[in-house]
Amino acid sequence: MNVEIEKIGHHLAHPKGEDGIKVAEMMANSNYGMIEKSFRQLSEKDKSVLEIGFGNASHLEPLLSGHPEITYVGVEQSETMIRFARELWKNTPYYKFIRSEDFAVDQWQEAFDAVVSVNTLYFQENPKSFVENFYPVIQDNGSFILTFADKEFMAKVPFVNELFTLYSLGDVKIIFEDTIFAKTEYHTFNEILTSPDGEQFGRDFHVVCFYK
Ligand SMILES: C[S@@+](CC[C@H](N)C(=O)[O-])C[C@H]1O[C@@H](n2cnc3c(N)ncnc32)[C@H](O)[C@@H]1O
Repeated sequence: MNVEIEKIGHHLAHPKGEDGIKVAEMMANSNYGMIEKSFRQLSEKDKSVLEIGFGNASHLEPLLSGHPEITYVGVEQSETMIRFARELWKNTPYYKFIRSEDFAVDQWQEAFDAVVSVNTLYFQENPKSFVENFYPVIQDNGSFILTFADKEFMAKVPFVNELFTLYSLGDVKIIFEDTIFAKTEYHTFNEILTSPDGEQFGRDFHVVCFYK
């Protein structure tokens, strides 16, 4: 990928234009393990999924294409990602991609079985409100699945910049200790990744499941 390192962090926070598309492809590949573990938290009964910050939406092919019974709505703040996803999935009209400003929780008619959001936490001004704002559009017994890479790992990533706020699992537990959700479960994973120059390194990440 031929994008200057200082710009990568900006595109991760909000992909824009041609470089945004290239960075989004890189992040879809390197984050696939986190995305897959997040979707794996869905239960058999979950038939409608809302995803916040879906990136380039290429993960829907391996994760959802075998499940036409699942309705999927993706919300993104990036116009570039919305356009990319709509083109990628133009033959799958039951996937909907909506700009953040066009998704108003208080006007949305149906409730979802699950909301998923991966690698978005770092960019939220108020992480607790970010998650709890979706409470009204989650079915009773439904869930919000929030996935993030651990602070210790992220602090070593060269393109992490001032747009990112980093969290350990302990930080997140404190933020959500009095959440409106009825039950919270925390899962920690470690995966081995390979850098473009062939070096292997480990990444710890956390999947937090909030149940209504
Ligand atoms: C680091 S990328 C992660 C993309 C993908 N989920 C992944 O894990 O590879 C963050 C994405 O979330 C989007 N995003 C961040 N905060 C958002 C918000 N509050 N609402 C909608 N999209 C958001 C950004 O535009 C960006 O495409």
